[in-house]
Amino acid sequence: MMLRSLLGSACKTNASRTHFLAALSRFSFFSSFAANPRLHNHMLSPNRSRQPNELNDSNQRGLYFSTAEFNSTVEESLQKWCKIFTNRKISEPLESIANILASVLKTNNLGEVYKHRKLVLSDLQVQNVNAMCEKRLQQMPVQYIIGEWDFRDINLKLRPPVFIPRPETEMLVEIALQDIKTRNVERVLELCCGSGAISCSLLHAVKNLSAVTIDISPDACRLCAENAHILSLTDRMQIENCAVKDFSSDDMFDVIISNPPYVLTGDMKDLQPEILLYEDVEALDGGADGLDVVKQIFTLASRHLNPSGSLFLEVDLSHPRLIRDLLADGGEDLTLLATHEDLAGETRFVQIIKKQETST
Ligand SMILES: C[S@@+](CC[C@H](N)C(=O)[O-])C[C@H]1O[C@@H](n2cnc3c(N)ncnc32)[C@H](O)[C@@H]1O
Repeated sequence: MMLRSLLGSACKTNASRTHFLAALSRFSFFSSFAANPRLHNHMLSPNRSRQPNELNDSNQRGLYFSTAEFNSTVEESLQKWCKIFTNRKISEPLESIANILASVLKTNNLGEVYKHRKLVLSDLQVQNVNAMCEKRLQQMPVQYIIGEWDFRDINLKLRPPVFIPRPETEMLVEIALQDIKTRNVERVLELCCGSGAISCSLLHAVKNLSAVTIDISPDACRLCAENAHILSLTDRMQIENCAVKDFSSDDMFDVIISNPPYVLTGDMKDLQPEILLYEDVEALDGGADGLDVVKQIFTLASRHLNPSGSLFLEVDLSHPRLIRDLLADGGEDLTLLATHEDLAGETRFVQIIKKQETST
């Protein structure tokens, strides 16, 4: 299911993931001598000051040698907060603090955190790290805390309660892009755009492509517009705040794409607390069978998909078979053409086309 882990790949880009994994192993090496003050003396600087949070957390007392009296280094901060998060049962503790430190160091490459491990954080940086980590202790997703996240090769602004794009959806974009490039598609319709991850990526990748995007949430539409603006895509993107069932247009599209809400209502309670506390329920809950909005998308696609066009959807694992049967039995003039697996080998993406006229 799409929400196995909120951090997903735990890194903001695939490239940084490689650096990060390498760095991680080195961090664990450094942690073996973290308790020895002498090894760290060369990192001390005159402007080190007391960290308020250091003594507040009883789990941390006595763990680190210098941080009660001096600002910590990047490495010490990473170790300290990783330990606190672990003790407080915050998910993905190391990834969380690594991303927070990267943000404070103004980089989106986690390898840079390792590179600057000996840097002594300034008072302001310590305050920022502490404030962000306090939010993480409240189970706020790290993407909301740092206010941005990479998706494919673009960076998106993020804020609650707009859905955080998941790594799986990068695959949906990749599948659609192949079709868009092969058929020289010039215009797409994205339903349920959220932060604009899918449309912004498509338009960023194909310079003559334009998109109509819609979402029921005003917050999502605003954020999508901001992201389109930052990425200089505004001229090619039309954003409408409306529900799938209310979409009204005379236009036809060669590609319709969506990552709609598709979690089965019965599965909602099993989602991570981070998701339930901070993300819009309406972005996730797809009704009893998870197909409430998907069925509305079929009705819309029936009207707005060109005869040679394709509808690309990300769905729950249980859906491809249901969708095949639904379209075979139902009144829509659509049929399931293909399914695609995600990187974990699970069937998560469907490509749907108009039923072809059979000559008699
Ligand atoms: C799973 S999120 C996907 C967001 C974005 N496409 C992404 O992949 O990051 C689903 C989005 O659908 C929107 N949504 C939910 N029900 C909708 C409806 N009936 N019509 C239009 N948008 C809807 C939510 O506001 C949310 O932004």
